[in-house]
Amino acid sequence: MPTIIDAITSRSSKRAYLPKPVPKEIQEKILHAASMTPSGANMQPWKVYAISNEDLLKKIGDAIIKKMNEGVVHDQFIQYYPVKWVHPYKKRRVITGAGLYKLMEVDRKDNDTRIKMWQDNFRWFGAKTVFFVFTDKANIDGAEGALLDCGAYMQSIMLAAQEFGIESCPQGSTTEFGKVVAEALDAPDNLAFLYSVVLGYEDKEAKINTYQPTRVPLKESVTFID
Ligand SMILES: Cc1cc2nc3c(=O)[nH]c(=O)nc-3n(C[C@H](O)[C@H](O)[C@H](O)COP(=O)(O)O)c2cc1C
Repeated sequence: MPTIIDAITSRSSKRAYLPKPVPKEIQEKILHAASMTPSGANMQPWKVYAISNEDLLKKIGDAIIKKMNEGVVHDQFIQYYPVKWVHPYKKRRVITGAGLYKLMEVDRKDNDTRIKMWQDNFRWFGAKTVFFVFTDKANIDGAEGALLDCGAYMQSIMLAAQEFGIESCPQGSTTEFGKVVAEALDAPDNLAFLYSVVLGYEDKEAKINTYQPTRVPLKESVTFID
């Protein structure tokens, strides 16, 4: 029986899946568990579209890729990544990206392959189930707390999924095209798209799924005061 610490430490983002949707009853169990995520004032600010409809997933992906090809860098509700990357985060970002490209033997200057790898996000890495998480715009109008709650909700989804042998990849790449996602889903005007989570059965043969970025030692992120 894996412990909670096992579940947390063994999760990693997977970027190649078998073409098999997550059964509805398992999605419900994952979402039911995730619904117990704590939130400020028990606000439960998440609104989720759990999509396994192949045509709709393709429609969303096509719409994002079309926007990218038009030269649009983002069309979003929230800015996820820092506007100004400072030390040490910039270095960590570079190391993490470079590690993935090195594993996949992609040259630093091979922009076409790098773009294709990024666009794999919008083909859902071959997975057939994706959760799209929104919140009410009113929750994030002059306040950020709902974003914290929805972030915790993301981790709950990914941890609960493991119980069923389901792997995941959180996606900020879709955040950058949040308005495109909302339009493709015909989401109500009051909702702002935050992020997606790809869910599915890992392709165990895929080299990309062996990638496990390391973490900095505790002393770089924690100050103990006894
Ligand atoms: C909010 C968030 C957004 C992310 N967006 C993407 C993404 O769009 N595409 C992707 O391949 N990975 C994405 N990741 C995965 C991170 O790259 C990954 O979590 C990090 O490198 C640590 O690796 P691990 O998840 O395998 O432990 C995202 C992670 C988070 C938490």
